[in-house]
Amino acid sequence: MSEKLIAVLPGDGIGPEIMSVTVDILKQVTQNSSTKLHVEQALVGGAAYEEFGAPLPQSTLELAKKCDAVLLGAVGGPKWEGLDYKLRPERALLGLRSELGLFANLRPAVVYPELASASSLKEEVVSGVDLMVVRELTGGIYFGEPRSVSGKTPERIALNTMIYSEKEVKRIAKVAFETAMKRSRKLCSVDKANVLQVSELWRDVVSTVAKDYPDVELSHMYIDNAAMQLVKNPKQFDVILTGNLFGDILSDVAAMLTGSIGLLPSASLNASQKGMYEPVHGSAPDIAGQDKANPIATVLSMAMMLRLSFDLSNEASRVEQAVQSVLQSGFRTPDIMKDGCSLVGCAEMGQKILEGLDL
Ligand code: IPM
Ligand code: MG
Repeated sequence: MSEKLIAVLPGDGIGPEIMSVTVDILKQVTQNSSTKLHVEQALVGGAAYEEFGAPLPQSTLELAKKCDAVLLGAVGGPKWEGLDYKLRPERALLGLRSELGLFANLRPAVVYPELASASSLKEEVVSGVDLMVVRELTGGIYFGEPRSVSGKTPERIALNTMIYSEKEVKRIAKVAFETAMKRSRKLCSVDKANVLQVSELWRDVVSTVAKDYPDVELSHMYIDNAAMQLVKNPKQFDVILTGNLFGDILSDVAAMLTGSIGLLPSASLNASQKGMYEPVHGSAPDIAGQDKANPIATVLSMAMMLRLSFDLSNEASRVEQAVQSVLQSGFRTPDIMKDGCSLVGCAEMGQKILEGLDL
């Protein structure tokens, strides 16, 4: 029997509650699996700063490097907002992404029929939405050099660099085309090629990679139009490929189509398919510790981990189906609550999903 190690990093805010629910479900669903999964926990973000004075301590990074997959809750909170940029909890995320080379960020957005009315958009616009944002995650303006703030008020100047090499565009484009091949073979690449040279290169490289995928229908769209089209007619999209900054924005827009950001999972993969799995939402400090958080995004991220890192598709599908059946039965955390449904907390939602595994 093969054995694998998962680094579990609950993080801050609601992170620990959603993670505890998720680990229970993980253990239950993989009880009799062909692969034995071991879990080791470590601190990250503000919690790690409190203990070690750094958001991504060496011990956590080492665990993340030696394990087979990372499952992360959320980081950040008002307590750490005033800290120096390098000590902020968010740095841990960026550090993990770059240290592990997690260049491919997959963010699916699926509107469950039961929840279509929870979206702020009209039900007929969002029902049936099922799309995937493929976001480049270790390059672009997030990591580009030079970056600086210089001078004294009122003459201060700040600088960041949006930069992509052909190689970086090519490898994320391949992931997007492969993803499209497994879905409905439609890919929209989003850029700002009417203004930015970096986008011109992006478009050129994506179009070249497209020649290896004649079955995929490729289109290009400017980011401003893409944001508009996503709220106007989201069903026109299947796979969206874009860079780090545009992907950050579009994936939040896509999240809101589904009614709650509390539902969206994500996977960040490197060249050897090692992954970090985390919910798209943040640490929600306003509701932390009150058993109000929606654990579904983290549970679904864990399902993505089972499928993509451990090839345990059956177990992944059982988790996804359990989530769906719990929603069909009308159980709702406060973020997606509506009349006629049963309000549950984070722990009870987890319990219902656990029970749903064997239905
Ligand atoms: C995300 C988040 C992060 C990002 C922040 C917390 C650094 O917004 O994962 O989308 O901008 O990538
Ligand atoms: Mg974001």
